[in-house]
Amino acid sequence: MSASGRSDGGVRVEVSRAAWLYISVVVLATTAVVAGAPPQAMPPYTHHEWLVILLCLQALFLICDTARTPLATRQMKWSPSSSATLAAVVLLGPMGAALVGATSVLSLRRHLRMHERLFNGAMHALCGLAAAEVFVALHGRLGIPVVKDFPNIIWPFAAAAVTHVLVNQVLIWGVYRLNRGRRMLRRGTLESSLPLLLVSDLGYAALGLVIASLWHVMGPFAAAIVLVPLFVARWTMRQFAEQQRAYAATMNALCQAVETKDYYTRGHGDRVSRGSGMIARQIGMSANRTEAIMFAGMLHDVGKLGVSTQVLQKTGPLTEDEFAAIQLHPKRGLDIVKEIGFLNEALAGIMHHHERIDGRGYPMGLAGHEIPEFARAIAVADAFDSMTSTRSYRQAKSKSVAVSELRKGAGTQFDPLLVEAFIAALEQERWHLPPPAGQPADLATVTVKDHDDPTTPLRVVEMP
Ligand SMILES: [Fe+2]
Repeated sequence: MSASGRSDGGVRVEVSRAAWLYISVVVLATTAVVAGAPPQAMPPYTHHEWLVILLCLQALFLICDTARTPLATRQMKWSPSSSATLAAVVLLGPMGAALVGATSVLSLRRHLRMHERLFNGAMHALCGLAAAEVFVALHGRLGIPVVKDFPNIIWPFAAAAVTHVLVNQVLIWGVYRLNRGRRMLRRGTLESSLPLLLVSDLGYAALGLVIASLWHVMGPFAAAIVLVPLFVARWTMRQFAEQQRAYAATMNALCQAVETKDYYTRGHGDRVSRGSGMIARQIGMSANRTEAIMFAGMLHDVGKLGVSTQVLQKTGPLTEDEFAAIQLHPKRGLDIVKEIGFLNEALAGIMHHHERIDGRGYPMGLAGHEIPEFARAIAVADAFDSMTSTRSYRQAKSKSVAVSELRKGAGTQFDPLLVEAFIAALEQERWHLPPPAGQPADLATVTVKDHDDPTTPLRVVEMP
């Protein structure tokens, strides 16, 4: 995995001052470590043989680095180049592994800026050097493996592969951590992709031992033959990534449809999605559930598509029938998206996001922990965003007022633990308030009540 400050959309991302400092330290430290390293353990080759293997593995590294696989978000790409570095660990020793990793500076990806090239080169060199040192320290034999080297070589190699992955992930994490406020990569994105990245990295690192072992039979062709499964895997990963992006596009299209119908809630789905994700991370939900609750937050009001526009935009109190129609929107939402298989637990969040802890909510009047956790979390984020948004009948409330309203409703409307989790998350993460609301010409005279606003609930017409 490498650092890149540019998404596929072509957006240049600024690097924070702290990240600049971090990148400089990594580059200088790697240069000092490699230059000042004591005489290295070397495999039993002539200088010429060592050089040929080095050039072959550097070429393999560059090919793998160029043919990276985009992950679902398009902001992250994954490269199997670690298989070349790990082959160098066995075939060339510490200095060779560092030089293969350093090839990243010459990456054929033209959009990379100089500081990205330097950081990637330093990082991969350090990964290779550390992995090879561990391999040698655990008595792994340097050189082309032969039958009698097995199984003894497996454990030193496995330790080297784990070292490579760990050093790589820690250094990358440092960059994203220092640059997180500048949209380099969303925190949830990295966390939800981490298990996949770790397993992939370890799997492709293991290919390094295959390359090293095949060298005995095929020489430099060992590197070429391994490219075949690498590219098949890349094709498969790309299909998976395309599918994930299609899911995300479907979600966005549904949200757009809701926001077109209910003008005043534009951007609401996205913010509730982020708020729900903040609560999920705060209470330690797994990465998969965090991703699912963010989908649920995005789609929680999709059922408005099944409610008449006249009712959604009605001025003043509602008739009982109109109120009943609004109360149906969670069920309608479930009907709309229930066939989307990957939503799973998110469906419960959509269905029950208007339940209340005291049992006075809708559609089913569930109470306490009868209400699914997703729905309890979405209810908090939903109310907070509604209160901090401008409506035609009132100005947006400040964050502090909205927080005290949430606390006021804790234990009756909201789950108190999730309210506190959200407030704690607000102190740690930035909350983007919606822009002040304008209104389109055709809605200029409409006064719309927000069914999510706990401070101005919808009123039903009093019958005589
Ligand atoms: Fe709703």
